[in-house]
Amino acid sequence: MKTHLKRISWCWELVQHVCQLYDKVVVGSHILLRRSGVACFKVIGSVSYVRNLLVMASYTPKNILITGAAGFIASHVCNRLIRNYPDYKIVVLDKLDYCSNLKNLLPSRSSPNFKFVKGDIGSADLVNFLLITESIDTIMHFAAQTHVDNSFGNSFEFTKNNIYGTHVLLEACKVTGQIRRFIHVSTDEVYGETDEDAVVGNHEASQLLPTNPYSATKAGAEMLVMAYGRSYGLPVITTRGNNVYGPNQFPEKLIPKFILLAMRGKPLPIHGDGSNVRSYLYCEDVAEAFELILHKGEVGHVYNIGTKKERRVIDVAKDMCKLFNLDPDTVIKFVDNRPFNDQRYFLDDQKLKILGWSERTTWEEGLKKTMEWYISNPDWWGDVSGALLPHPRMLMMPGIERHFDGSEDGNSTSSNASSNPSQSQMVVPVPRSNVSIQKPSLKFLIYGRTGWIGGLLGKICEKQGIPFEYGRGRLEERSQLLADILNVKPTHVFNASGVTGRPNVDWCESHKAETIRTNVAGTLNLADVCREHDLLMMNFATGCIFEYDAAHPLGSGIGFKEEDTPNFTGSFYSKTKAMVEELLKEYENVCTLRVRMPISSDLGNPRNFITKIGRYNKVVNIPNSMTILDELLPISIEMAKRNCRGIWNFTNPGVVSHNEILEMYKNYINPNFSWVNFTLEEQAKVIVAPRSNNELDASKIKREFPDLLSIKESLIKYVFEPNKKNCAGEGSN
Ligand SMILES: NC(=O)c1ccc[n+]([C@@H]2O[C@H](COP(=O)([O-])OP(=O)(O)OC[C@H]3O[C@@H](n4cnc5c(N)ncnc54)[C@H](O)[C@@H]3O)[C@@H](O)[C@H]2O)c1
Repeated sequence: MKTHLKRISWCWELVQHVCQLYDKVVVGSHILLRRSGVACFKVIGSVSYVRNLLVMASYTPKNILITGAAGFIASHVCNRLIRNYPDYKIVVLDKLDYCSNLKNLLPSRSSPNFKFVKGDIGSADLVNFLLITESIDTIMHFAAQTHVDNSFGNSFEFTKNNIYGTHVLLEACKVTGQIRRFIHVSTDEVYGETDEDAVVGNHEASQLLPTNPYSATKAGAEMLVMAYGRSYGLPVITTRGNNVYGPNQFPEKLIPKFILLAMRGKPLPIHGDGSNVRSYLYCEDVAEAFELILHKGEVGHVYNIGTKKERRVIDVAKDMCKLFNLDPDTVIKFVDNRPFNDQRYFLDDQKLKILGWSERTTWEEGLKKTMEWYISNPDWWGDVSGALLPHPRMLMMPGIERHFDGSEDGNSTSSNASSNPSQSQMVVPVPRSNVSIQKPSLKFLIYGRTGWIGGLLGKICEKQGIPFEYGRGRLEERSQLLADILNVKPTHVFNASGVTGRPNVDWCESHKAETIRTNVAGTLNLADVCREHDLLMMNFATGCIFEYDAAHPLGSGIGFKEEDTPNFTGSFYSKTKAMVEELLKEYENVCTLRVRMPISSDLGNPRNFITKIGRYNKVVNIPNSMTILDELLPISIEMAKRNCRGIWNFTNPGVVSHNEILEMYKNYINPNFSWVNFTLEEQAKVIVAPRSNNELDASKIKREFPDLLSIKESLIKYVFEPNKKNCAGEGSN
């Protein structure tokens, strides 16, 4: 017995151990004292608490539903429970989102008490069906959208999955009336940021003050959980955890991302200055905490799962460099911070300690194990290069789901429950034949085949190997758009069609009905059809809806921002574009790209701004924001992958004037070129509708794409330098 007790190194094991003996020996406080010694009670708290723990009824679940267990933490919890409790039946419900992987559940896969169901927690029918047919008495609810960076881009997905999804689960519990434990997994982030100098961490009764859309949705879900506990007596327990790391974690999160980048010899990007502090727990320790809470957690209580050990992000990066023998001064790169980056999440971890848990794995040990795992499994998720970007958002696309081999499927088919409830193990959609019918992960449907931007988009897709088709339907014909979507089954729709007027926008002044039909009715039609099909629509709009004014004077460098209200309706074209932009704000599936005075390297194209002004008899000379298509169109594709939404000034930063461009033209292309300027007043006499001149503030797109060149740099790199070479080449022939 003596040696046996020596092995009991921490209090939960002690409690478990004594519990095991409980039937055989009467455990009184003096026995514990005599056997376990003082050190043990230091951790546990008090002798009476130990006695309370021992006599406290231990909950024994029968049939557990774990949501989100193809993801990171819950996969460890599931594998652990399957390993330790062959008597429990475990049903996993996961929609197999981009960050999940069925391989995470391989250790459980062949167990007779394990079953996987692919489906969404937001599907009430499916959830009710599972609760009833599987006689679920316990829910451990992990499923969520979890990546803070994504939540800045598409917070509606977070509301849908994290709040609405939780609500559906709770309602199903209420309706079926058979749940004896509902363990709701929340996060330390709901407390908001902790002061840098705080010495006391947030305890479970602290106020919830979330600061980002992710944590706000987690806090919202908690409120519903609490309400169902109070209103309907649902036996709920909530956990709020610090950051977790370890094997199976999708590499958009800091530690696996650093490991994969270090493995590829790439720089380690740090948001801001890296002074933000985080507390990290190793996944197996966290799984153990959930095991304890499942059995010993008290109904109605909240438990922090935390550690007092904190690390600055910059130190995590340096530790990583040490592990990989890299020079931190050259490998660590500082990038733009997130819109909001909490400084610190510091938890009071006493309550769970008293219940009997503490972390076992040291940082060094955990980091090493994690690194070894990623090195042994470099292709666990397939191509994750998008997740390794400094601000990854591309992988969160509604409808993109993962397969067992880590590949993705853009098919947003509905939930797939087992048709045979007694059938165990994996229930995943399988191809209907032996032939692989998997859809590619991206497929674009592009409107505007005959247009300049639409044509260029197609060429870029060809170059990048992205499957695409041009839309055949007319924008104003809803049924034709529907037919296109059903035929092409796109993952994204690009709208590069619209009426701009030939030879110029003056045409719109005399063709108002046609302009409205395409630019307003058609665009709205497409946005609406796309919304119905849960498709992101990348809409090429215009920045010619502003003109310099007192708050944004010419030459001031103060540009119009995305949220500014258009102030230029001088031309009918701009008027319709401003109207439709305003209405599109109501469509959360639309990404509006405000293009201005587009320029491409194709100087023979009559639509090219340079070509146009080069052919005019006289030109005005006003600085303007402009769009270099060669640089920005590939960015629009990347934005689609990143699931960017809302309005974006889609121009290169800064302004360039007509004369500056023509000077460059002269320097690079034709030294004999000359031109004549005229004033705006003189110009007004030869055009029908006034033209807009403005500067757009490009800081939003620059933040998303820090390498984006200023307008003058971009003109040289993408337009004049390549054309100069061509001219030189032509000259020597
Ligand atoms: N990772 C951390 O550091 C951390 C820290 C504190 C709390 N949490 C919380 O722990 C839980 C798990 O986090 P994680 O990092 O393991 O997440 P993860 O992103 O690795 O996995 C989430 C899983 O949920 C699934 N899912 C998402 N929406 C779903 C839906 N509507 N229906 C069915 N399945 C859905 C996904 O497919 C995925 O498998 C989350 O609730 C998170 O808020 C995580």
